[in-house]
Amino acid sequence: MSKIHIENLSKTYRSKRSRVTALEDVSLAIEQNEFVTLVGPSGCGKSTLLKIVGGLIRPSRGRLIYDGEPLLQPTRDVGIVFQEPVLLPWRATIDNVLLPAEILGLNLAQCRVRALELLKLVGLEGFESSYPRELSGGMQQRVALSRALIHNPSVLLMDEPFAALDAMTREELGFELMRIWDTHKKTVIFVTHNIVEAILLADRVVAMSPRPGRIAKIVKIDLPRPRTLDMEFTGEFKSYFDEIRAVIYSGGGAARP
Ligand SMILES: Nc1ncnc2c1ncn2[C@@H]1O[C@H](COP(=O)(O)OP(=O)(O)O)[C@@H](O)[C@H]1O
Ligand SMILES: [Mg+2]
Repeated sequence: MSKIHIENLSKTYRSKRSRVTALEDVSLAIEQNEFVTLVGPSGCGKSTLLKIVGGLIRPSRGRLIYDGEPLLQPTRDVGIVFQEPVLLPWRATIDNVLLPAEILGLNLAQCRVRALELLKLVGLEGFESSYPRELSGGMQQRVALSRALIHNPSVLLMDEPFAALDAMTREELGFELMRIWDTHKKTVIFVTHNIVEAILLADRVVAMSPRPGRIAKIVKIDLPRPRTLDMEFTGEFKSYFDEIRAVIYSGGGAARP
């Protein structure tokens, strides 16, 4: 049984003056503990798809099945990380991580222990009492990752989480994320518009084409794990890159990078 079944999802945003079809008939099955990346140009509906999977918005058509059951209301079983860390500036690191636990009414003493473990896991030991303004962008995103994991969800949804970071921090966090995924066994859906990042992280890359957003191709990545940076320079990697790039930009109209 797949962890998540996305069945014939469509989404049209309607306002008084306009209609935008962001997704059209998207179907995808994601296996338990799989690492899937969604890649495509800006505006192709990646965030829309992720928000629907996270239960933040409703589809216009289609349905979602989690663990064999139709998802009818937001589930606690997901953690979400966005491009901006959106930390509360008046709360210290540990209290930002604990925020979902407070909202969900979980046992705070237990969650505090878990928060400290998570902060250690993401390399922020010693920064528990620091405030967001005292942390770099990469460190803030590590806090956001810990916060997304505090209630131990089995699904982690990430929407271009490293896009605002410099290239080195981005690579470093990518490898840390893979380490966490490997030890903590999560089903991950990771959105990016960076094809290299999409390939390096994924078990499967879902390539989307724009207007309306559709799945153009699903590419299984057979590079061994643990992944390393030098894999980027292999012929195998290059052929994945070319294959994905070709389908993403074949729709026409989209600007090339
Ligand atoms: N709340 C909204 N209202 C109206 N249109 C929207 C809304 N959110 C996104 N869109 C439109 O839907 C399309 C897909 O957007 P989005 O899912 O954010 O794409 P991506 O994350 O791939 O850049 C875009 O054309 C965007 O302008
Ligand atoms: Mg987006």
